[in-house]
Amino acid sequence: MRTTAHFVIGAIAGTVAAMPAVEPRQAECAGLPSPYPTWQQLPLQSTLPDPFLPLKYTSTDNAAGSSTFAQDVMTGKGKNRIKTPEEWYKCRQPEILQLLQEYQYGYYPDHSLEKVEATRSGNTVNIAVTAGGKTGKFKATLSLPSGASASKKAPVVINIGGMQNAPYLSAGIAVVGFDYTSVAADSNSKTGAFWDVYKGRDIGVLTAWAWGFHRTLDALNMTVAEIDPTRVGVTGCSRLGKAALAAGLFDTRITLTMPMSAGIQGIGPYRYHAMSGQDETLENSKSGAGWWSNSKLGTFVNHAENLPYDAHTIAAAIAPRALIIDQGTGDAYTNSKGTAVVVYPAAKLVYEFLGVGDKIGMSVRSGGHCDMSGFSSILPFVQKTFFGTPTTKDFNSLGTYGAAQTTTFPWATAVPKAS
Ligand SMILES: *[C@@H]1O[C@H](CO)[C@@H](O)[C@H](O)[C@H]1NC(C)=O
Repeated sequence: MRTTAHFVIGAIAGTVAAMPAVEPRQAECAGLPSPYPTWQQLPLQSTLPDPFLPLKYTSTDNAAGSSTFAQDVMTGKGKNRIKTPEEWYKCRQPEILQLLQEYQYGYYPDHSLEKVEATRSGNTVNIAVTAGGKTGKFKATLSLPSGASASKKAPVVINIGGMQNAPYLSAGIAVVGFDYTSVAADSNSKTGAFWDVYKGRDIGVLTAWAWGFHRTLDALNMTVAEIDPTRVGVTGCSRLGKAALAAGLFDTRITLTMPMSAGIQGIGPYRYHAMSGQDETLENSKSGAGWWSNSKLGTFVNHAENLPYDAHTIAAAIAPRALIIDQGTGDAYTNSKGTAVVVYPAAKLVYEFLGVGDKIGMSVRSGGHCDMSGFSSILPFVQKTFFGTPTTKDFNSLGTYGAAQTTTFPWATAVPKAS
């Protein structure tokens, strides 16, 4: 069992000596630039970056005809774009995971060097993770649906910071929570189980919390026979929604990613941040809670439009696994509208390109920030994912926000078509 955080990038199939000559030559990956470009070396993109363009070609000189990056590349006319789902999974998805660690999350620790130990006592699971001679410990709390047993295993939603449990338990879904402060304090203090093992690394607390989800899943797999570790959701709200998104991104064991009211550094766009009237930005998130991300993201303060990705890129990298996004119309600060009309439809285009358009959904509900009704709102999507239960609820509806704002992702007209 491994997380997906580490990849060999840029392997060139054609150079493998033992490969028979008759094998069709596979597409070569562009490979990541080394060193990574700084914000000054990256083009300013006022619209969402083309998800199909490798970082190596995200440069001001990649113009197809007219003279500037903006005119060609932002509209999906750049050279050397990803053209097939195979290329996406082989080259672009691993590349996105790498560049997000470089520019935002910090490098996820190598799980193969960790030893996880767990014991269960009633509804408490005690977790200890050891690496490099250091150990961090935290606990998770179980709520099992009635009737769950080793022979009738229940899917599970792991949550950080609490959620609305009752409708999930009634639906036959286990709910397991852990206290985020016990994994990593929401501050610069570098306390908690994660830092007990990894103090000194330039890793954001969102990544530390994501690690907490993953080690909880390890422990459930070892000690809770009533839970099916192959049907797993991750959720949290607000800053913890940002963490749930990271948890879904970095571990392919996560079946369903469920960020709630997540905002910037989550599923809210860095670009178009003021769309809802209030304004969570890269700038105020970095100055208010700089510890959420690594230090590199700080170099983009006042230059967010030079980031070679946006929230839609993070969402797209989760495909083909399921993603359901919840936002309340009363939650202006996390830019619910921007998530709904900018990020979601842009990410969905990538899911559709990969042939899994039904695996991404949007829940636009009334109510404000972290309103617990969000958990009921997404439940039919969760049941569809875990049990295949059909639903008539339209998770492609943007509710009162109406339609996607396609001008924010002008490459929409140039999504590669599978031949
Ligand atoms: C659960 O543990 C078994 C045995 O170590 C392992 O093979 C399997 O991949 C684990 N499953 C998950 C979901 O982690």
